[in-house]
Amino acid sequence: MDRYRTLCVLNDLCILMSDLKNQINLTKLPKHVAIIMDGNGRWAKAHGKARVFGHQNGVKSVREVTEAAAELGVSYLTLYAFSTENWDRPKLEVNALMHLLIDTVRNELSTLNNNDIKLMAIGDLSKLPSKTHRALLEGIENTKNNKRMTLILALNYSSRWELAEAFRVMSKEIEQGKLSSDSICENIIENYLATSNIPDPELMIRTSGELRISNFLLWQLAYSELYFTDIFWPDFRKENFYEALLDYQNRERRFGKTSEQLSRT
Ligand code: FPP
Repeated sequence: MDRYRTLCVLNDLCILMSDLKNQINLTKLPKHVAIIMDGNGRWAKAHGKARVFGHQNGVKSVREVTEAAAELGVSYLTLYAFSTENWDRPKLEVNALMHLLIDTVRNELSTLNNNDIKLMAIGDLSKLPSKTHRALLEGIENTKNNKRMTLILALNYSSRWELAEAFRVMSKEIEQGKLSSDSICENIIENYLATSNIPDPELMIRTSGELRISNFLLWQLAYSELYFTDIFWPDFRKENFYEALLDYQNRERRFGKTSEQLSRT
């Protein structure tokens, strides 16, 4: 393709992307979007490369989606980066992921600060390798005053771990007389979750064609809209994120009510 044709194609792509972006109703944005970034391994295989290559390219998508979400005005973006089950992967892959996390958090620190994005993490962080844990804590500390958006990395996270942890702490507090068992209700339980003070995601996106929730935010996703796409995570770009938001905005969220009841409010 000559240079002129390349420029025309790029121009068309930009128009298409800004069209999608312009269709988004900014007054009806989800406050919180959660994403299961899946398909890195299959993407790498399709490119004849090792799985780690997929994870490395997945970082580009992390950057694009974080930027897109912050630009639009999404308040919280949660990315499932490493599950408690992922330790069972080949040691080489786990090590590479842990190093990639260190590099990404360090390399992206200035971008996070320039864009006023606060970094947070949920999961059993104490079990991460010490270097990864330290890089993460540094990233969290260095961005703690940022206000525009919170980027939450779910790391060594699983929802059942989170719930078990919440129940364990609650039982201990009951034993110590700090919590009354009669006071336990949904709001109280939420205070003991890793996501306390964070609104539930209104939209959960999973890439790569898998139709599962995989132990991710089981409590918090109770009323979320679920969006599944066949695109592998390393190919997921801003326009794919805009498409997911537009799909979400075209859905009727009834929360157990009828359509008629909703149209009356
Ligand atoms: C799932 O794809 C992806 C992961 C388990 C890791 C996600 C990590 C990144 C995108 C890179 C680093 C991220 C941050 C936030 C710094 P898979 O390996 O399960 O793919 P497969 O299903 O095709 O095998």
